[in-house]
Amino acid sequence: SKQKSVFPKNFMWGGAIAANQAEGAWNVDGKGMSVADVAKFKPDVDITDYVAQWRTTQADIDEAMKTDDVIYYPKRHGIDFYHKYPEDLSLFAEMGFKVLRVSIAWTRLFPNGTEEQPNAAGIAYYVNLFKKMRVLKIEPLVTLSHYEMPLYLVNHYDGWVSREVVGFFNRFTKVCFENFAPYVKYWLTFNEIDSVFRHPFTTVGVVEEKYANKHDAEQAIYQALHHQFVASAVAVKQCHEIIPGSQIGCMVTETVTYPETCNPEDVMLAYEDNRQNHFFTDVQANGEYPRFIKKYFKDHDLQVSFAQGDEEILKQYPVDFISFSYYMSMVQSINADKREKVGGNLTTGVKNPYLQTSEWGWQVDPVGLKYALLDLYDRYHKPLFIVENGLGAKDTVENGEVHDAYRIQYFADHFKQINSAISAGVEVMGYTSWAPIDIVSASTSQMVKRYGFIYVDLDDFNQGTGKRVRKDSFYWYQKVIQTNGESL
Ligand code: BG6
Repeated sequence: SKQKSVFPKNFMWGGAIAANQAEGAWNVDGKGMSVADVAKFKPDVDITDYVAQWRTTQADIDEAMKTDDVIYYPKRHGIDFYHKYPEDLSLFAEMGFKVLRVSIAWTRLFPNGTEEQPNAAGIAYYVNLFKKMRVLKIEPLVTLSHYEMPLYLVNHYDGWVSREVVGFFNRFTKVCFENFAPYVKYWLTFNEIDSVFRHPFTTVGVVEEKYANKHDAEQAIYQALHHQFVASAVAVKQCHEIIPGSQIGCMVTETVTYPETCNPEDVMLAYEDNRQNHFFTDVQANGEYPRFIKKYFKDHDLQVSFAQGDEEILKQYPVDFISFSYYMSMVQSINADKREKVGGNLTTGVKNPYLQTSEWGWQVDPVGLKYALLDLYDRYHKPLFIVENGLGAKDTVENGEVHDAYRIQYFADHFKQINSAISAGVEVMGYTSWAPIDIVSASTSQMVKRYGFIYVDLDDFNQGTGKRVRKDSFYWYQKVIQTNGESL
């Protein structure tokens, strides 16, 4: 049924990409290697086996460092956004984008992460990108860290486990704020900071096997996470000091979890998962660790060291707004071991019989997006920004056209739920779809897992012309933006 559109006039419609999945040009203009450059395409591993797809061992890193191959390391080629951005930005402008979320590759500015001075060519690239966006009237929303930390810091510092990495990162963020201040008002600190437990290598540079046992690895991951929390708070401080009027947010994966039944035991399991998910926003939005996490450290003998002043920094510099990705909801059950499972981005979970599942095992749930919006707003009273949402699907080109009705349906269903959350009083700053143009998948490193309104003619083995083609959803989204949601 048709609802009245209540999207605010200044609602920021747009799309989101990440440097490591789009730019390519992995070894160009002084760029160093990042964790993304060693992410291997694994055609033989089940695409719904999320854990195996992400797993990276020390042997994998060593092997990757010896080769210039781009076919099995697809994030090295991306869609060549590094060179093709003028064309791609024009297409976004044609759709009417108000905002584009991009990330900055740390390794373009600091190839190893440890340098005293930034690489001028890296800064120049992003300045040019932002200038072009300004001409096209597209507001940048910039993620400072999106799964692309320097590999050098993994090999020489154990990633974010080392306190020094906080200093290196905040040197990088200061350089970003100083150099991009004239162009960028909206910032995000760490992409999906909660993914630290799902794929610690990509998020904090932790190679789990380096640790003696599960306990030690978990302790290292919490330590690394603590360092990111501190670095995020320092970035908030720097951002406000260097760019007056700027706004900076955190970024989490919204993993809405439902109980399978009204059995209080199921309800409690689901509650605990949601509580764990809130931990990350509690620290970044409220400025303190929730008591249950501190209790958990104690009960499990996890030694996480806080440097002097850390607690004050977290408390003094909470984020201005909360941003999140939302792709699916989850189900918890005390009978999980007896239930049918689905794969997906998060963990292997119980199948929800009321929902459809994507080809990659992700359970599509538009109502869950409204749930997430209400829940986060009621809990934190801060503006929200949906910075990722979309459908990864295989597309086919027929006579130069892509008829992606399934994608249109997905977006329409989700947009209606956003509208409904706004009518229920939630403050939503904007929406950036993942991803407005086909790019390399984060988890599986595939090209055929396509999210775009714009098709890119490349396959999983980097074969194709790289040509951009407007899909049916391109024209559909253009209309949604033009009418500010009235067309829905
Ligand atoms: C999010 C990430 O987890 O999901 C993105 O922030 C990613 O980087 C997106 O691309 C979709 O996941 P995937 O694995 O389908 O690319």
